[in-house]
Amino acid sequence: QSSKLKLWERPLPPHGQHTTTFHYLNQTSWRPTSPSFPFTIMEVKKDQHTSPPSEMIPIVDLSNPDEELVSRAVVKASQEWGIFHVVNHGISMDLIRRLKEVGSQFFELPETEKKAVAKPDDSQDFEGYTRNLKYTEGEVWAENLFHRILPQSCINYKYWPRNPPQYREVTEEYTKETKKLSERLLGFLSEGLGLRHEALKEGLGGEKSEYVLRINNFPPNPQPDATLGLPEHTDIVALALIVTNEVPGLQVFHEDHWFDVQYVPSSITVTVGDQILRLSNGKYKNVLHRVTVDKEKQRMSWPVFVDANPDVVIRPLPELITGDNPSMFKPIVCKDFKYRRLFKLPVD
Ligand code: OGA
Ligand code: NI
Repeated sequence: QSSKLKLWERPLPPHGQHTTTFHYLNQTSWRPTSPSFPFTIMEVKKDQHTSPPSEMIPIVDLSNPDEELVSRAVVKASQEWGIFHVVNHGISMDLIRRLKEVGSQFFELPETEKKAVAKPDDSQDFEGYTRNLKYTEGEVWAENLFHRILPQSCINYKYWPRNPPQYREVTEEYTKETKKLSERLLGFLSEGLGLRHEALKEGLGGEKSEYVLRINNFPPNPQPDATLGLPEHTDIVALALIVTNEVPGLQVFHEDHWFDVQYVPSSITVTVGDQILRLSNGKYKNVLHRVTVDKEKQRMSWPVFVDANPDVVIRPLPELITGDNPSMFKPIVCKDFKYRRLFKLPVD
């Protein structure tokens, strides 16, 4: 329940600031082919919200040769929205196509086969396959697969599907690419704090930080108004790098409104989570978001979560703390932080 979150765990950027100038860096190099272009902000009918039409989720072209400009765009988007799309991100469309293919094939398997990687009932961890498809009002509506993909020493292949047979190879290739991309983004965000490129990565535990793949399957729901695919939340990790199929459903809370996140073909959607909020001493926003479900269409998404090592102390990076910029957050060991957030206990 978001009302239990502290004020600064919610994205509350100052009013009247609009991000219109940097949506399309190097626009000419990126030509969307989807008929849904140009993007529009679709109004969310639930909950009174209307969206100023001039605003949309920032899109950053990572292939722009002006690295400074790219860095600034990532920083600005993370400060103001806590979410942005990256295009020309360097991960091949063929690899993303194969990632989606093996994930979709897994979810198409009969229930008994999916149960081969089920999360055990008595498990204290999140890894494995789970399913929650009930017609109950207010319930979530999704099936998910969760497993770690890095570091190697944390991988439990018990939770990696053996069927389809290419699942492992494709996932390993995608892991390497998302690691590169996330380190580049963390580098920009570190520079935006006036720090060395490696500062945030090191703050998350360096090579010991953990990467987790989640595959969300949101089948069509006959009663979509009564149900959410995922209720509103902020991610308790550092960053999420999200690939989706073409069915929209993600919504973000920004300046008092719920915005539909447009599907941008070939993009990866990046969300800033609680850990980056804390390490940056509140400079970067952990975006509040949720997923709606569709009456007719199946939505799928593939977030990779970049997570601190469980033994790392999550705290504002010490270089940031000065008399003028006192620490907004108490240090807390990552695994305790996540436990408290998962069980909705207060965190200072
Ligand atoms: C999540 C999440 C977004 C999406 O898995 O935490 O927010 O687009 N997913 O499915
Ligand atoms: Ni999320």
